[in-house]
Amino acid sequence: MKNLNEVSKDLTADLKKVISLADLENLQIKYLGRKGLINSLLQSIKKLKPEEKKNFGKKINDIKTAIKHLIEVKQKKLLYIHTQKDFIDISLPGKQYQRGSLHLVTYAIEEISEIFQKIGFIRMTYPEVEWEYFSFDALNMPKGHPARDDFETFFIDVPASRKNGKMILSPHTSSGQVREMIRVGKPPIRMINIAKCYRPNWDTTHTPMFHQFEGLCVDEGINITHLKGAINYFAKEFFAEDREIRLRPAHFQFTEPSFEPDITCGICLGKGEINGIKCRVCKSGWLELAGAGMIHPNVLKAGGIDPDIYTGWAFGFGIERIMMMKEGIKLDDMRILYDGDIRFLEQF
Ligand code: PHE
Repeated sequence: MKNLNEVSKDLTADLKKVISLADLENLQIKYLGRKGLINSLLQSIKKLKPEEKKNFGKKINDIKTAIKHLIEVKQKKLLYIHTQKDFIDISLPGKQYQRGSLHLVTYAIEEISEIFQKIGFIRMTYPEVEWEYFSFDALNMPKGHPARDDFETFFIDVPASRKNGKMILSPHTSSGQVREMIRVGKPPIRMINIAKCYRPNWDTTHTPMFHQFEGLCVDEGINITHLKGAINYFAKEFFAEDREIRLRPAHFQFTEPSFEPDITCGICLGKGEINGIKCRVCKSGWLELAGAGMIHPNVLKAGGIDPDIYTGWAFGFGIERIMMMKEGIKLDDMRILYDGDIRFLEQF
C-alpha cells in the first residue's frame, strides 16, 4: 500500500516536469511500459496473502486508469500549445537541411574560366538577348545571307532597330567578338566569353538553351599556330594529358581559314578501334570539339580594328557538349542536365 501511495506522489511530481510530447512519452513508458512501475507492482502481488490480493489488484487498476487519464489530459494540453503560433518546443530535434551544390554546368564554367585565366584571358559575359547585328551582320553575314540559316534563331517579338535589326536570343557566343573589340579598342585582346545560347533543337545531343564559350585573341602577328596551341592547351587541361587535337578544314563566314578542331576519343585514344573492333563512341579515333578559325578581316573592321596591322583567332565550344565527352561524366542524353531531377544532380 505504501508503494502505491508513493507511485501517486511521484506521478504528480513527474507530470509537473513534462513540457513536451517527448517528455510525456517517456513518462508513459516509466509508468505504463512493459517494464514500468505499474507492471512491477503487479508482479509483487504474488507475495501478498490471498485476502489482500483482491484489494491490492483493484487499487492498482484504479491507479492505472487514473494515470492513463492524466496522461491524456496532459497530451491534449501539449497538443493545444503546439497549435499556438509562438510556441517553440525546444526539446524537438533540429531540422536537417539537405546539403546543396552547384549545377554541373556551373562547375564546368568555373573550370574553363580558370584554365584560360592561367594564360591571361579575361572572362566576359555578353548579352543573352542580342541584336541581329552583333550575331550576324558584324560577323560577315549580311541580311539574307544563307549562312544565317546555320544558326536557327529565336526572335524576340519587339520592334526592330533600324541600325541593329531584330532582337534575338543569342544563337552563339560569337556576338561577343565584335562587342569585345569595341570595348577594348586597341589590341592586344584576350577574351573568354561564356554565355547562354539558344537554338530551337531538342534531342539527345541538343537542348534549346545551352552554353558556349568563345575564345578571342587579337594582336600583331597572331597566326594559326597560336590558335592550335591554345586549343591544345585547353584540351590537355580540361580532358587529359594524353588527348591530342587536330584542325580539320571547315567553313564559317566570320573566320578565314576556318576549322573544326577534333580531339582524340577518350575511349580508344585515337586508334578508332579496340582489339580489332571499331570504337563504338567515335568510329574514327576523333571527336568533333568546336568551331574555330582566323578572324575574317571584315569582322576586325566591324570591331574598329585595322586588319592590315592586326590578326587574330577565335573559337567557340559548346559547354554541355564537351562535358559529355569528359572522362567520368558519360551522359548519354544531354537533356538530363535540365530536367531538374535532383537524384541526378546531387551526384555531382
Ligand atoms: N559560332 C560558331 C558556332 O556556334 C563557332 C565558331 C566560333 C566558329 C568562333 C568559328 C569561330 O557554331
